Amino acid sequence: MSGRIATVFGCVALACLSWTARGGPDDVKKGEKSGNGGVPGLKDVYKDSFRIGTAGDLPRGYSDEELGLVEENFNVVTPENCMKPGPIHPEEGTWRFERPDALVQWCLDRQIAVHGHTLVWHAQTNDWFFRDGDKAEVTRRLKEHISTLVGRYKGKIRGWDVVNEAIGDGGNAQTSETEHLRNSPWVRALGPEFLTLAFKFAHEADPDARLYYNDYNIEAGPKHASSLVLLKRLIKDGAPIHGVGIQGHWSTNNVPIEAIDRAIADYAALGLKVSITELDVTIRGTSGGQFGPGPGPGGGRAGGGTPPSEQDLKAQADAYARLFAVFNKHKDVVERVTFWGLSDRRSWRSRQHPLIFDANNRRKPAYDAIVEAKLHPNPDPSTPR
Ligand code: XIL
Repeated sequence: MSGRIATVFGCVALACLSWTARGGPDDVKKGEKSGNGGVPGLKDVYKDSFRIGTAGDLPRGYSDEELGLVEENFNVVTPENCMKPGPIHPEEGTWRFERPDALVQWCLDRQIAVHGHTLVWHAQTNDWFFRDGDKAEVTRRLKEHISTLVGRYKGKIRGWDVVNEAIGDGGNAQTSETEHLRNSPWVRALGPEFLTLAFKFAHEADPDARLYYNDYNIEAGPKHASSLVLLKRLIKDGAPIHGVGIQGHWSTNNVPIEAIDRAIADYAALGLKVSITELDVTIRGTSGGQFGPGPGPGGGRAGGGTPPSEQDLKAQADAYARLFAVFNKHKDVVERVTFWGLSDRRSWRSRQHPLIFDANNRRKPAYDAIVEAKLHPNPDPSTPR
């Protein structure tokens, strides 16, 4: 640990101890003897800015060390897969609530919030929703899906990604700014109003839940323009939408800082909140939320991949520091920053080492850089330190 970082951690530790003495939760104390190595958790460092989250289908299959890292660093959890339509509602009338229930209970027991992901998507959604159904029947299935799921966790899940990834890729062919909706089974069955319906059904089921539209690559270029057209339409049509999730699958090759800065301001100007919902920065990989390993030195879950060099880790740390500086600049708008996974072992792009804990749950330089970004902000976040 460098002298500077040690001083930083000393200061935060003191701040956290005095906070504990005033009656805050005692998980800060636990952090002192745990996998964080006495370093205050990210959720405490950023507690006056926004929530810090992680994604996973915990606690089943997670080690005590991993669960300890979750408790120390994060105050909101997104289920990575177990609440998606395919896994949770594989057939009409068949629900698999065991893992989601266990996740919600584990989080409730620890005062960790849960963000639900995702009610309506073109992927990980079984065919039965659309099979042999006219518009009225598919609408009924959509409503029943949303009402049952949101209703079950009413008051326990604070927000939902209501619709995921409705905007298509490759917006370059656009001649004017349009929504450029993906040609999904939802659009084919219900037309563009499937989004408004989904938001309305979710709001009816839990009027207190924070409802989000979530997508990747919407911070820049034609897809950003499309997102504004779509969001304006939803607001005009009275969809109860509270915020936009910028997924945040970036790479050390491409961290669009200026675009992110502008995009957050654009969404705020529509009266919406913003969350960074699936943050990861792959090392020399591709950006975007597309499935598959993608090019670069190996994507996917298989583990391994080329080990990152010191220079790679430094580039990644710089990227994270610049990102958090921008998020923090917009802390009045940004509600939550969630990493997509816990460690480089628990990541959908594990071979590209995208997260802040390595495959052995050790803090990476990116972790320290994120702490530094809050405690000693770089006066010019557009440039690396
Ligand atoms: C990914 C999960 O991480 C993988 O485990 C799963 O195999 C596929 O889905 N955008 C999203 C997430 O909204 O739900 C995706 O999660 C990653 C891209």
